[in-house]
Formats: sequence, C-alpha cells, structure tokens
Amino acid sequence: MKILVTGGLGFIGSHAVVELQSEGFEVIIIDDCSNASEKVLEGITAITDKVPIFEKLDLKEKDKVQDFFKRHQDIEGVIHFAASKAVGESVEKPLLYYENNIGTLVYLLKELSQKSKSSFIFSSSCTVYGQADEMPITEDAPVKVAESPYGNTKQMGEEIIADTCKVTPGLKAIALRYFNPMGAHPSVEIGELPVGVPQNLVPFITQTAAGLREKLSVFGNDYPTGDGTCIRDYIHVVDLARAHVVALQRLLEEKNDENYEVFNVGTGKGSSVLEAIQSFERVSGKKLNYEIVDRRPGDITSAYADTTKANTVLGWKAKSTLDEAMKSAWEWEKKIRKL
Ligand code: WQD
Repeated sequence: MKILVTGGLGFIGSHAVVELQSEGFEVIIIDDCSNASEKVLEGITAITDKVPIFEKLDLKEKDKVQDFFKRHQDIEGVIHFAASKAVGESVEKPLLYYENNIGTLVYLLKELSQKSKSSFIFSSSCTVYGQADEMPITEDAPVKVAESPYGNTKQMGEEIIADTCKVTPGLKAIALRYFNPMGAHPSVEIGELPVGVPQNLVPFITQTAAGLREKLSVFGNDYPTGDGTCIRDYIHVVDLARAHVVALQRLLEEKNDENYEVFNVGTGKGSSVLEAIQSFERVSGKKLNYEIVDRRPGDITSAYADTTKANTVLGWKAKSTLDEAMKSAWEWEKKIRKL
C-alpha cells in the first residue's frame, strides 16, 4: 500500500517513514529540501534497507502537485509534515507561513478530494491550546487565540480539514497535536538537524554539551512552577512517529468513529527545563553550562498532555522515558559532531 509522506526528510517525517516501512508500507516522500537534506534518505535506508521513492517538490507549486497526483493515483494515504515551524520566524514573516502552511494544505486536500477514498494525517501541535487552563490538557480543552502565525496555521489547518471532511465522504482525517518532540532513532542513523542556532531546548542542550554553544540560556525561573522554570511534555520522536502509523492504520481499516478526529500525542508527563537539564546530566555524565536569563516572550508556563484518548481510542502509548529520549538525543549529537 502506497503512502505519501510530505516533509519526509524532516526530523519527525523521516522517523515516520522508518516506522511506515517497518510496517510494510511503500513510501513516497515529497520534500522541497528547504529545511532538510536528501542525505536523510541514506539514513532511512540504512535502518530499513528499503529505499523510499523521493521527489523533490515544492507543494506551493499547484501545477506540480496536480501532476504528482496524476502520476501516483494509487496513493491511499497521506501523512502531511511539510510546513514551516519556527514560531519566532512566523511572527516576522506571517505571509511566508500562511502561504507555506495553508496554501499547500489546500492544494493537497483538493487533490485528495478527487479520490474515492483517502486517509489524511495532519501534523498539528499543542500550541493550539495556548496556555490551557487545566493540566493535563485534554482534546476538549478550548483552542485559544493563537500566540503566533505559526500556531494560527495549525488552528486554521485543523478547521480547513474538518470543514473539508464534512463535505467529502471519501476523505477521512486525523490531526495529531504534538507536544514537544525530541531525541533520535536508536540506530543513530537519523535525528534532529536544526538549521542555524537551535530554537528548541533539547538540541540547544546537546549542542552546548558538544561545544558548539558556549552555554544554555534558561528563559526564566520565575514561573509559578515547582522550580520556577516552564513545564513541557517531552516525547521521544520514535514514539511520536509510531502514533502516525497507528492513526493511519485506524483510517485505512475504517475504524474511525468520525471523519475527522483529533488526538493529543505526548507522554502525559510534564518536565521542567531544569529537570530536562538534570536528565541530560544524568544520561551524559556531563555538567551542562547554563545561565538563568529573562523569560522568552510568548512562552507559556505549562503544557503536558492528557493521553487517555490516544491510549484508549487510538491504542497508542508513548514508551520512552525522558532519560531514554535525552540519551538518544545525546548519542545523535555525538555522532554528527564525531565526538
Ligand atoms: C521548551 C522550553 C523554553 C530554548 C515549540 C513550539 C511548538 C513545537 C515545539 C513545533 C520553554 C525553554 C528553550 C532555550 C530555554 N514546535 N528554552 N532555552 O516553545 O515549548 O514549543 O517547539 O510544532 O509549536 O512552540 O519548545 O523547545 O522552544 O522550549 O530555556 O534555549 O525550554 O522557554 O520553556 P516550545 P522549546
């Protein structure tokens, strides 16, 4: 069965391709390589010994998207990762985000709507909740006014998909609301490759330990939490990737209750920034150089998932602990820096 993975050379996309191939799916990757390299194909193949079909394609080019679907009419499912995802950049360049994250989604859905049957998995984010009123966060928590154009594209994306599924009988979709993905494949063949200075906590930790960064700035320790630093739900990227395969199988096997469903994908456990640092120091045996600085604008105090729905309805549960995920992130950093 042929599955299209857009953004399949990216951090989460590449891990999802590995899990799909391991489940016996034939995978086609579309990626514009703006934020990932074709070399990732070698890493995927080194793990699964199966070479995914790859087409370099910018989903903003509507004619090329139409041509692609004409040439691949036997695609039965799509996992859509391709999108811009830097919160700060989205504030500076909103139109780039609306074009790249929304325009491309519309082109994809138009193609899928022509098919008699199709299954669509959307990469969404816990960012749609903003600062939720209650922890852990359930899927019923209200979607708040987005704090960034990036977050808005996830909210709008979910609404566009829901509206389309309502009037397109053959289209079934699941949106997965990620919490904080981290880590790397245990084979150390694929992992996170941030472009430039990492915005996210975990790659900044590992790059600091690898000597690429002088020290980690901890953005505030005056939050109303146990140790004053922000709390997040850090989920191993392989656990996250597996959630995509389980969600896709739910749709392909027509086990879905509704034509459009939403699931939180996290571990259900919150960890503070300082706890993440302590986890790194435990698994690496290295002391991390960090300094407490001012808060980062836009950060929320706390976000961790209520995973009951994914555990019971989807039949999926994260397996890795924070230490295991952090260890995988460090092993990957050491490999790519030849430490
Ligand atoms: C985590 C915590 C920071 C860097 C973002 C997006 C979200 C999703 C995941 C795409 C926060 C602190 C960070 C640093 C720090 N992305 N931190 N020093 O902001 O929770 O989520 O990435 O889907 O949509 O919003 O992740 O890793 O940036 O920050 O102290 O150098 O680490 O303040 O508390 P975030 P993050």
